[in-house]
Amino acid sequence: MTVLSGAGISAESGVPTFRDVETGLWAKVDPYEISSAEGWQRHPEKVWAWYLWRHYMMQGVEPNNGHRAVAAWEDHAEVHVVTQNVDNLHERAGSERVYHLHGSLFEFRCDRCQGEFQGELPAMPEPVETVMPPQCRCGGLIRPNVVWFGEALPDSAWQKSVEAVSNADLVVVVGTSSIVYPAAGLPELALANGIPVIEVNPEPTPLSNAATATVRESAASALPTLLQRLPSLLG
Ligand code: APR
Repeated sequence: MTVLSGAGISAESGVPTFRDVETGLWAKVDPYEISSAEGWQRHPEKVWAWYLWRHYMMQGVEPNNGHRAVAAWEDHAEVHVVTQNVDNLHERAGSERVYHLHGSLFEFRCDRCQGEFQGELPAMPEPVETVMPPQCRCGGLIRPNVVWFGEALPDSAWQKSVEAVSNADLVVVVGTSSIVYPAAGLPELALANGIPVIEVNPEPTPLSNAATATVRESAASALPTLLQRLPSLLG
């Protein structure tokens, strides 16, 4: 069984999604300014400040019943979690096989020598406009180990995700708008291989019509009982 998750699974933990028109992160900042390689080249101090704030915010949240349900499924099946999320809520809920397609907000590296950064990070309870990133010994700047628009996905996480989807007996797609590729191509790969896909999302997405079944509920309310509902959902 493979779960593909997006920002929606962390929404009930208090983590904003990206594209919600009112509360979404992209409603407040320009994604191509703040979350792209070009934006980093132009003004690293703005990008760094924004990620410091998100990093700080992520430490103050807890997994919800959606994350916990996915972790508990490991008692019944071999579960692989493919996530677009840069938070660590799946791991903190107890999931053992988690592949981060878009990196992690808890890892930092030099943008020149790629060396890992282990230094202290300042607390950032409120977002500020600019903070200069720390400098690496090589002279490069320290950046978050997340995948920005225009950047390639980490090879190993991608390979493991394609394998986990291709070998699955069921794929559950939860809390994603299914518009950002290549991640959004994974449910299509499953369907093309005759693997049932269940979408859990309060709102319809471009995947909804093709999905084997859809559950129009939030992650924390739907996932705890999803295994029992499989017979009725998959007929
Ligand atoms: N439970 C389940 N789904 C939810 C919930 C919830 N409580 N709340 C919102 N959703 C759904 C929304 O309806 C929406 O379809 O979660 C989805 C969130 O979509 P996005 O904000 O687009 O997030 P995501 O799909 O993860 O974005 C993909 O885009 O911005 C980049 O790199 C970023 O990983 C991110 C990628």
